[in-house]
Amino acid sequence: MSAPWWQTGTIYQVYPRSFQDTNGDGIGDLNGITQRLDYLVDLGIDAIWISPIFPSPMSDFGYDVSEYCDVDGRFGTLADFDALLAQAHARGLKVLLDFVPNHTSDRHHWFLESRASRSSPKRDWYLWHDPAPGGGPPSNWISDFGGSAWEWDEATGQYYYHAFLKEQPDLNWRNPAVQAAMHDVLRFWFDRGVDGFRIDVLWHMVKAAGFPDNPSNPAWQPAMGEMHRVLQVNSTDQPEVHMLAAAMRDIADSYGAGAQSARVLIGEIYLPVERLMHYYGGERPGVHLPFNFQLIDAPWNARALANLIAEYEAALPPGGWPNWVLGNHDRPRVAAKRGQAQARIAAVLLLTLRGTPTLYYGDELGLSDVAIPPEQVRDPRELREPGLGLGRDPVRTPMSWAASKNADFSTARPWLPLHQDWPTRNVERMAQNPGSILELYRQLLAVRREHPALTIGSLAMLDAEGDVLAYERRHEAQRLLVALNLGAHAQSLALPGWAGDCRLLLSTTAGPPRIEGGVLLLRPDEGVILTVG
Ligand code: NOJ
Ligand code: CA
Repeated sequence: MSAPWWQTGTIYQVYPRSFQDTNGDGIGDLNGITQRLDYLVDLGIDAIWISPIFPSPMSDFGYDVSEYCDVDGRFGTLADFDALLAQAHARGLKVLLDFVPNHTSDRHHWFLESRASRSSPKRDWYLWHDPAPGGGPPSNWISDFGGSAWEWDEATGQYYYHAFLKEQPDLNWRNPAVQAAMHDVLRFWFDRGVDGFRIDVLWHMVKAAGFPDNPSNPAWQPAMGEMHRVLQVNSTDQPEVHMLAAAMRDIADSYGAGAQSARVLIGEIYLPVERLMHYYGGERPGVHLPFNFQLIDAPWNARALANLIAEYEAALPPGGWPNWVLGNHDRPRVAAKRGQAQARIAAVLLLTLRGTPTLYYGDELGLSDVAIPPEQVRDPRELREPGLGLGRDPVRTPMSWAASKNADFSTARPWLPLHQDWPTRNVERMAQNPGSILELYRQLLAVRREHPALTIGSLAMLDAEGDVLAYERRHEAQRLLVALNLGAHAQSLALPGWAGDCRLLLSTTAGPPRIEGGVLLLRPDEGVILTVG
């Protein structure tokens, strides 16, 4: 049986507000994504994941959903979505939506009903609690955006729990009626033809019964943000969450299981590897891909990365398919963290490791974090705890398509400022420059597509020294060697015997590779893919 598309393909995350505006309001929309599908096909990706597009007051830019089975007017209409899906499918692209099950908007009619009275039939759809015996919030749980996670409701004399903003009350997933209602949401979109979901904060969905205090974090420092004052051991990652994941998986699997027809679930989970692995499931399968975010924060040196890769591979459960991520709409951009030269190395790493890669829009242009003037800050994370560098606006700035007005993103002033070098760092310009990072991504995706060793092949780490990270990808007779210089000095790698007769498939720098006496010489910041035989 051939491998399913979500194992061999590359996923591209679209942040819809920032991709392409078509109606001149400075905010990206669904028609904009449709308009740019050919770009994505040319780039060589296989699937897009679109961050939330559902009706929302936008307190958290769509992660506060007030209606799950519709499209927010700012992004378009359901008909626009159907058109996008049809156009994507016509080009062989899969489309994943962002499912936000942990919490709704406080404007959702479920919550309005729930807070209306203590005897509301929907009261138990959310997490309501009396004050602590001595008064005050029921527990010491802290919102991820700072402050107590419990909000007092004067009218009904109880607190409700919100892991994020008070405008994002958490649902009570122990209530079967909530499960049923949210399963209907999955079916609504699967019935329309979507190919899967990224599941927002999956590990938050169940909290310990009785809401016991979280232990305090001995390593906490104010610069980390208030949420880290406590360790979220009781407010997240409870055993019951795996039953919920399994139920969602059953629904996804009921819509298709073939190599092309399979529907995929990707869980957003920030946990240590050993905990993360449970989200693949136990007796019953969990999500297909629990997001592996380790490369975002990993120390950028060859030894640390080699260990991280080996340990992740070793921790995978039988049948568990790996995946890798360099960035997303919540975390610093890879170019900001690693610099432009090493962002190219990171691109090779992302697209040659074993497992499904997810690429964040704009990383293919080497977009970096954009400094946002205080008066233009939009992200509630930054507004609530300013100045700590926790805000996410810098990584959500508009895509730059051309050197024309507003980078061709919009005819109006974009909702967030463009990066400063957009007149040169844009798709049109970079597509003409074979040395650009955009062309590197295009080449990498093409090489990946042409070589099963890079998708379904095995991975073996090679012994390497200094700043070199090297590994073999192999499928049947096809053997590739990837060697990455993680530093700014020339390095060498003694090639293993099997790689004696090799040729270059791709290099991140100009000029032919130099192999002398069985030793590969790497330029500063150079990464190569060699093919053997
Ligand atoms: C994770 C999302 O990626 C983030 O953007 C959002 O603020 C929180 N979940 C709350 O939904
Ligand atoms: Ca628009």
